[in-house]
Amino acid sequence: MELPDYVKARKRNREEVIKEFYQLPEELKEIGRGKKYFLKTYGCQMNEHDSENIKAMLESLGFEETDDYKNCDLALLNTCSIRENAHNKAFGMLGRLKHVKENNKDLIIGLCGCMAQEEGVVSQIINRYKYVNFVFGTHNIHRLPFILNDAINSNDQEIEVMSKEGNIVEDIPVKRDSKYKAYVNIIYGCDKFCTYCIVPYTRGEQRSRDPKDIVREVEALVRDGYQEVTLLGQNVNAYGKDLDYEYGMDKLLEDVSKTKIPRIRFMTSHPWDFTDEMIDVIAKYDNVMPYVHLPVQSGSSRILKLMGRRYTKEDYLKLFDKIRNRIKNVSISTDIIVGFPTETEEDFKETLDLCEYCKFDNAFTFIYSKREGTAAAKLEGQIPQEVAEDRLQRLNKVVNKYFLENNKKLEGKIVPVLVEGISDKKKELFGYTDTNKLINFKGSASLIGKIVPVKVVSAKTWSLDGEISE
Ligand code: 5AD
Ligand code: SF4
Repeated sequence: MELPDYVKARKRNREEVIKEFYQLPEELKEIGRGKKYFLKTYGCQMNEHDSENIKAMLESLGFEETDDYKNCDLALLNTCSIRENAHNKAFGMLGRLKHVKENNKDLIIGLCGCMAQEEGVVSQIINRYKYVNFVFGTHNIHRLPFILNDAINSNDQEIEVMSKEGNIVEDIPVKRDSKYKAYVNIIYGCDKFCTYCIVPYTRGEQRSRDPKDIVREVEALVRDGYQEVTLLGQNVNAYGKDLDYEYGMDKLLEDVSKTKIPRIRFMTSHPWDFTDEMIDVIAKYDNVMPYVHLPVQSGSSRILKLMGRRYTKEDYLKLFDKIRNRIKNVSISTDIIVGFPTETEEDFKETLDLCEYCKFDNAFTFIYSKREGTAAAKLEGQIPQEVAEDRLQRLNKVVNKYFLENNKKLEGKIVPVLVEGISDKKKELFGYTDTNKLINFKGSASLIGKIVPVKVVSAKTWSLDGEISE
């Protein structure tokens, strides 16, 4: 049994990262034959992409996917730790699975992802959720076939959570959810230690993938007809800082751009590491999309300092203006937390003012959630829930106003859209513009998977309606 340990997880040893290659032993290839798996994914794109790896690994063992957790042989939850409600959802699902297991004793239940890296969660699973067969962490994904095999053949709980990030493992199989858009990991972990955030503990030390492996993956996607890649990392701008040669996010964007993949996106950017060179590359290459997700978190420099963000409101605004002025038609979105410990009405009003100035194209707004083990959890001055809820509502009113205002500016314009499919609700085509706005329009299903010009007819807060323009 290998348990999570925050003291180890916090250490940054700067040891050399060794590259390994995934291999599946012959004797495991049939362990899932004739069996069904149910996989539920919580959290961010990083987790969604991990689930694409998990699916491919399970299917290489013979398992088939089902979306019916009441009739499966293996139920696996790929969990998120970022806020309390992500926890609650996963524990709620474990409760439902307990009932299923009462009628199907052979059901194997597993938990992986970020919650598996939390000390508190794993001790709860050991003490109170004894029916969970196995747990593995974010650093052990490639070990799934082995851990699962052990769980199937044993009556004990299998817990394998490495607290120190391991090596970078290449060649893990992947079953992508889309035939047109692909996630590509470029950097694992995070060294920023924002005081509210659990990610540096659950995802470990920053490790950049070899740029040659990234470019090779994108080239293969181009050959397979993919139209878009999203380069993924907790903080993509820090890409390359841990490599032993000069190579950063600007160079990577440039090299990926030369693969001729039609669209490149990247997430998430920390304002601290956003260089002028990166801005130049985004502005220069047509296939690097004019869209930047730039989390501000708060408009108060005092709160930003307590959050450990390493920039002031003024620094943020300077960067914001530079991006806006140098990249034509850029759209900028953000993340904001309200109710951080000690946040006063004045601090909050500074956040509102910043939103009035920036007029973001999109904003993901959250109430601060205390994460055990982080520095902010120890701060005095936690904000009452009703105050935080009131602030969230007032903030949403302001940001929503600008989503609509920005979208209205697109009315009458022709925008390039990657068509993704037919929407369940409207039974029309839907896709995303270069600036990452959702648009619905009528057209033939033969357009799915293509980038086509669409005229924006009318704008709503969350989406656009258009018509094909040819
Ligand atoms: N509470 C609330 N929101 C959080 N985020 C990260 N940690 C917390 C927390 N403890 C938000 C940040 C981040 C986004 C992914 O989630 O805004 O940018
Ligand atoms: Fe959630 Fe963060 Fe883990 Fe993503 S990396 S699943 S957001 S805790």
